[in-house]
Amino acid sequence: MDASAPAKTILFGEHAVVYGYPGIATPISSLRARAATRPETMGSGLRIVLQDMQEQSIRLRENPEHPLAIAAQLLLDSVSAPEPDWTITVTSDIPIASGLGSGAAVTTALMRALASALGASLANEHLNEMVYAVEKIHHGTPSGIDNTVIVFEKPLYFRRGTVMESIQVGKPITLLIGDTGVSASTRVAVSDVRQLFNSQVSATTQRLEEIGSLVERSRQLLQVGAVIKLGQCMIQNHQLLQWLTVSSPELDRLVDAAVTAGALGAKLSGGGRGGNMIALVQPDSVQSVREALLSAGAVHVFQTKVETC
Ligand code: PMV
Repeated sequence: MDASAPAKTILFGEHAVVYGYPGIATPISSLRARAATRPETMGSGLRIVLQDMQEQSIRLRENPEHPLAIAAQLLLDSVSAPEPDWTITVTSDIPIASGLGSGAAVTTALMRALASALGASLANEHLNEMVYAVEKIHHGTPSGIDNTVIVFEKPLYFRRGTVMESIQVGKPITLLIGDTGVSASTRVAVSDVRQLFNSQVSATTQRLEEIGSLVERSRQLLQVGAVIKLGQCMIQNHQLLQWLTVSSPELDRLVDAAVTAGALGAKLSGGGRGGNMIALVQPDSVQSVREALLSAGAVHVFQTKVETC
């Protein structure tokens, strides 16, 4: 039984979303994590093989603390199933530790494959709660935006713990995603923003509020297809993220290169300090912006469309 889940990118609101402000994220359906189950001999138990990660093999019995073993156990408990004698092979096109949601996508694909092989139905709402529980092991205090957009696989307006609404995109928009190739810890970036917040409460709150307002405005702009203004909001969001100390020279270089080459806007996406940035491009500037990103040091450039599913 095969199952999969997409990568994701955050369009607006990362970091502020941890403090209860809204965020907007979209799936990248062309980049996916996949999981496939196959039966093994009786008594062998459950083994998870991570094919793209040096063939790492995790046995439920021997490595119960591994986040993917915890994910598998959560799923088995939720459908009251005993440990099956299966191998689950996980593969993924999604770069790791780069802000594209690789961890949440792998967990989602794994749980879906397991549920499907067990013949159990699994509602996305329930799956989302379980993936969030596993995300907490990786990130400490995740807002939940990553797992939610990955599980539901549609552009979302999200507010921690309360709101999740799909966004009706007025006109499909094209994004280029530039990977700095620098892996960075979201947990560390989130904790540094927390320290900044604690040491400069009012200045940081003001920036977080500005990000929140940009998210509200961008949601309306997305709905009416106002791409020029949307691009300007991205640039402003990036400047606010710079203030929060989560950009990096590599990210700034890619953002500047994209805008100079004709992107309507660009910003870092995700936890920052490395990982990925996104650029909003018109169809006629895709090629020049892609080339500019590669010359400015991007190790990969992905293309995706934001559209109503
Ligand atoms: O680094 P990523 O793509 O997992 O994004 C994290 C987004 C943050 O807002 C920085 C953290 C969170 O939990 O929402």
